[in-house]
Amino acid sequence: MPLATAPRIATVALIALLAALPAAHAVTPAAQVAKPATVAPSESQAAFDARMQWWREARLGMFVHWGLYSGAAGRWNGEAIKGSAEWIQRNAHVPTDEYARQMLPLFKPKPGFAREWARLAKQSGAKYLVFTSKHHEGFALHDSAVSDFDAKDATGRDLVREIVDAARAEGLKVGLYHSVIDWHHPAYPYRDFARLEHPLPHPLEKAGDKEDPGYAKRANLKQYQDFLQAQVRELVERYGPIDVLWWDYSNPGAEGETWRAGELMAMVRKAQPGIVMNNRLYRSLGYDDPQGSLKWFDRAHGDFTTPEQAIPAQGVAGVDWEACMTMNGTWGYSALDTHWKSTRELVRDLADTASKGGNLLLNIGPMADGSVPEASVQRLREMGAWLQRNGDSIYATQANPTAPVTWGRITAKGKRWYLHVFERPADGELRVRADGALRARLLDGGRELALRRDGAEAVIALPATLPDTIDTVIELAPSES
Ligand code: GLC
Repeated sequence: MPLATAPRIATVALIALLAALPAAHAVTPAAQVAKPATVAPSESQAAFDARMQWWREARLGMFVHWGLYSGAAGRWNGEAIKGSAEWIQRNAHVPTDEYARQMLPLFKPKPGFAREWARLAKQSGAKYLVFTSKHHEGFALHDSAVSDFDAKDATGRDLVREIVDAARAEGLKVGLYHSVIDWHHPAYPYRDFARLEHPLPHPLEKAGDKEDPGYAKRANLKQYQDFLQAQVRELVERYGPIDVLWWDYSNPGAEGETWRAGELMAMVRKAQPGIVMNNRLYRSLGYDDPQGSLKWFDRAHGDFTTPEQAIPAQGVAGVDWEACMTMNGTWGYSALDTHWKSTRELVRDLADTASKGGNLLLNIGPMADGSVPEASVQRLREMGAWLQRNGDSIYATQANPTAPVTWGRITAKGKRWYLHVFERPADGELRVRADGALRARLLDGGRELALRRDGAEAVIALPATLPDTIDTVIELAPSES
């Protein structure tokens, strides 16, 4: 679906104009930032629903951030660098040659790492795996004909092939996270993007010509767009079915047609008609503020939106969404971040997300050899064990159909509701607004629980202690079922 030419010219003209202005004048108040150009989705609602079905039922995916940054493990030249570890090049302000010189020798994928990831994803109960085919650093995990900053040149292996094949062998759907930001490609015009009110960051964004000689000659948006298109084409045409394209990321002034998004999306859809894409080729501003990103949601810009490190308080009625989250505080591996969330917190996040009609994409950051930190392995296995017993209350469920409750969350499959009890009310009674003749039983083990009516509420008598301290699930269903 090619975008109309007019908005494209307007965007390019705007970038050129902003580039020509001194930085102080390039500021546009956030409130006045125009909504990005829209193309009406050419797909019927029924076709869209059919394409989204597996994704909507999956509810849990495993995200993987892995690249050269994994070898740095959070330190540059021995010094701990603040910020998410996959941003280390930017946060330590390292030019790409120096970054490559130090990082490439550390990146040594062990044989079979991909099978370990795929098995772990499967054990965790995740139904899909999304991994970084290229993060902002610009290093591609596939064998790219248009770059030598890629896994094939660095390791002699096509790591995208290994990961895609391993995921498929475990029966998982597989997706690619692909960064449109690029800190390596010589033509990437980072200074134009750094001048925006909401800049797209770059390691050298503040450097003068001294540190980056030849920038003016090299920077060329068209060349970078061609490169981006070519790499994405390789990714979607060579590896069999790809189920998700997870773009990352844009800001006002450098979004959509800055990347020739209409052309990119059309090319991806042609190669992978069933694929599901997020909307970060367009504005991602506010992705860490769910309401912010949702304000801009437009189906023409992608199939789903991606609140980051947050579960929207009310969910998002009528919009497909996926909360992406880390298990500690970083996406890429850091040896310094040991602040892990508990399994209980993670399972509750999953139940919370499902109760609001969304998916959870939960991240691991493997080390440079592909090993997954033990803390992540342990938590994912524990989540998997919980899902073995309680998966019916998560997969293919819908959002809470009744009033919110104080003691936990509710998911549903039609008239069958799943009460996720996080805290046992002091009087041992669980109250739910629900009509009709109902029965209640523990989902795990099937023990029936006494139920009485109190006006519009069903009142369920809980056991003296909750059998599952993570999340005890009670199935509430019509009596005759
Ligand atoms: C952000 C970050 C990035 C991370 C991603 C995950 O855009 O730049 O490092 O990959 O979000 O959602």
